[in-house]
Amino acid sequence: MPVQSQIRARPDRYRQELRADARAGLTATPKTLPPKYFYDERGSMLFDEITRLPEYYPTRAETSILRSYAAEIAELSRCESLVELGSGTSTKTGLLLRALLDRGTLREFIPLDVDSAVLTDAARLLAAQYPSLWLAPVVGDFEHDLHAIPPGGRRMIAFLGSTIGNLEPRARAGLLAEVASTLGAGDTFLLGTDLVKDVGRLLRAYDDAAGVTAEFNRNVLHVVNRELGADFKPDRFDHVALWDAENEWIEMRLRSVGDQRVTIRDLHLSVDFAAGEELRTEISAKFRRDGIRAELTAARLEPVRFWTDPDGDFGLTLARAAS
Ligand code: AVJ
Repeated sequence: MPVQSQIRARPDRYRQELRADARAGLTATPKTLPPKYFYDERGSMLFDEITRLPEYYPTRAETSILRSYAAEIAELSRCESLVELGSGTSTKTGLLLRALLDRGTLREFIPLDVDSAVLTDAARLLAAQYPSLWLAPVVGDFEHDLHAIPPGGRRMIAFLGSTIGNLEPRARAGLLAEVASTLGAGDTFLLGTDLVKDVGRLLRAYDDAAGVTAEFNRNVLHVVNRELGADFKPDRFDHVALWDAENEWIEMRLRSVGDQRVTIRDLHLSVDFAAGEELRTEISAKFRRDGIRAELTAARLEPVRFWTDPDGDFGLTLARAAS
């Protein structure tokens, strides 16, 4: 089975970065922690569970777009190398891989994710399903590690699931510029974006009845406990999801159930939470077609086609790197 062993973009940077991010975020007002730390082995599993929840429509909507248009995407991109940023289980990506293999151009797939456990499982499944494909997984962070992607032939970078929505506008512009500089003239970029819609549906998607999203949200506290020797009591924080109408994003927060002090041993830091105080853990921006076009164009990525699912819940854009 042609699976290359995982390339680790920066082997010991993860904990160093977590230390810096946790110190900056937990001493800021309001307190924050970046969403990438949700994704240890348990967090990736919880996210996978979220994608199957009745309230969480984005994964099903994007899958239906890929089911309808993967062949057209393959025809437009004709890539030899597919790179997926924040690849997770790569379940939806199978539809693209199939279409690209059928088109006869694809030779390799490079999934990039911060969680090495999810990459191992994904590579095992993909190797069984697509035995002719060269798999070269990269453990890394899409905001810093695009340079670790090995050079290939004609390339397509896919960034699915509306993960781009977890970045604020300035960070999105930075990432899109990085993507553009990682592509050669004529190479393509496939971007999944959740679209602005009824606020009730949006809120339910981030506050499901079974409480899986709440547990996913609290997982960042488990990660900080384990990695930095902290003593967060995750059940002393309530899950909060709210809609920020001005920024058009969902925000996830953890609300302190009472006054409490948390010690982060490895940072020699104690942090006080007042009753009701909220820690911001994620933004998930929702997009409009014009905004997507403008952000891509500003990064010199020229939109070629835009597809949505029949309900218009989710958008998929194919863009081409300018020559
Ligand atoms: C991983 C970016 C697709 O923002 O919708 C799901 C993460 N957070 N439920 C999103 C998430 C809460 C998710 N993405």
